[in-house]
Amino acid sequence: RRSPGPVVAIDGPSGSGKSTVARRVAAELGLRYLDTGAMYRAVTWWLLEHDVDLSDTERVAALAAQAPVHVGLDPEHPTVRVGDVDVAAAIRESRISAAVSAVATNLGVRDTLVAQQQGTAREGGVVIEGRDITTVVAPDALVRVLLTASEEARLARRALDVHGSADDDAVHATRDQIVRRDADDSTVAKFHQAADGVDVVDSSHLSLDETVEVVLALVRRRSGAQ
Ligand code: DC
Repeated sequence: RRSPGPVVAIDGPSGSGKSTVARRVAAELGLRYLDTGAMYRAVTWWLLEHDVDLSDTERVAALAAQAPVHVGLDPEHPTVRVGDVDVAAAIRESRISAAVSAVATNLGVRDTLVAQQQGTAREGGVVIEGRDITTVVAPDALVRVLLTASEEARLARRALDVHGSADDDAVHATRDQIVRRDADDSTVAKFHQAADGVDVVDSSHLSLDETVEVVLALVRRRSGAQ
């Protein structure tokens, strides 16, 4: 029987391009793709739908364990559902981006979602991206990548994403949001720590294609070295 293939773990801050890179790498290698940020976003969507007070940490943790979140693993067709509802677009709305840190810093929520993510990692054959994949979810992954980019590059990319432009006004409108998100995210201590054996890839001056190539080269190198 064919082996399920390697686990490739990719961490990075928002605007580093990790989602696009991870999807492309998975598609190139015929691996599955797991967007763990989408899981935190979908849980947040569901909690807001039920008018849950996000500062009620025990209730949030208990409900997160019951949230019927389904994140599809096909890199060509990423899907995110909560129950029967397609939330792929809704979880990208700014009301979710503004609320998700409160959910993602809830340690009970993290226990639940990390356990689910580790289940997928154990099956193998998957590119997993997020904030704590190289350190907590899949520290034994064959390839562990920390994708970074300068604040300037991340701002320009995010402005392009959100406002369709990277001119001064769009960058300015994005700056507050991205700096606040990073500060919120870093409250969970393990984020962004480059552990031993993690390859740091700085994409500030790389195109998307070039970044994908660098990660593919790392996978080839690690696979060959086994
Ligand atoms: O990557 P993203 O913007 O979709 O992530 C959404 C939020 O979830 C963000 O606040 C970081 C958090 N997150 C996390 O805490 N751990 C992960 N493995 C992935 C995302």
